[in-house]
Amino acid sequence: MSPKHSKPDATYSQLEAGTRLATPIQHQHAAEIQPYGKIAKLPVGLDERVCAASAENLNQLLADTMTLRDLYKKHHWQITGHTFYQLHLLFDKHYGEQNELVDSIAERIQLLGGISIAMAADVAETTMIPRPPRGREEAPVQISRLLEAHELILKEARTMARQASEAGDDGTNDLLVSNVIRTNELQVWFVAEHLVDVPLVRAKAMGAAAGE
Ligand SMILES: [Fe+2]
Repeated sequence: MSPKHSKPDATYSQLEAGTRLATPIQHQHAAEIQPYGKIAKLPVGLDERVCAASAENLNQLLADTMTLRDLYKKHHWQITGHTFYQLHLLFDKHYGEQNELVDSIAERIQLLGGISIAMAADVAETTMIPRPPRGREEAPVQISRLLEAHELILKEARTMARQASEAGDDGTNDLLVSNVIRTNELQVWFVAEHLVDVPLVRAKAMGAAAGE
């Protein structure tokens, strides 16, 4: 039985009549409104050249931070061995923290009047972190790879923080020092301690005393 108000005999054009204002306008294309690398100045009290320099630095840091973030997710999925569970959880925690940094860095670039790198292909072209293999690696290799990426980011973030400070861009300096550097340093500690070769059950001294 058909609903009370249905009009089974209406044609498509009759059904569409009067809906123009409610119909999505699809397949629209136009030239971009701001090319990448240009500054659309906002009234933040900073010189345009300072904004441009900070945006350029932050885009490099953004590409590297997105790569480290994704490296953590790769390792979260592919981890194996005795420490599977703890590293599976730790890698995902660090992934989430790096993801928050990504958003903070990208939004800082936008408020400086710049344009944030966003897509994977652009990130791959820009990052200085070496590309890992698609395949699976042992946990110590995964951790070594993460530590090298962290160190690269920490070195560039400290240089960029000094440049921002000297240019009077205190907001960028604060983001770099308070968020990027502090977060990366803490993550280095949590990850690096997994590469200290200590016994799991029997202390070395006890083994020596037992003549082993
Ligand atoms: Fe997961």
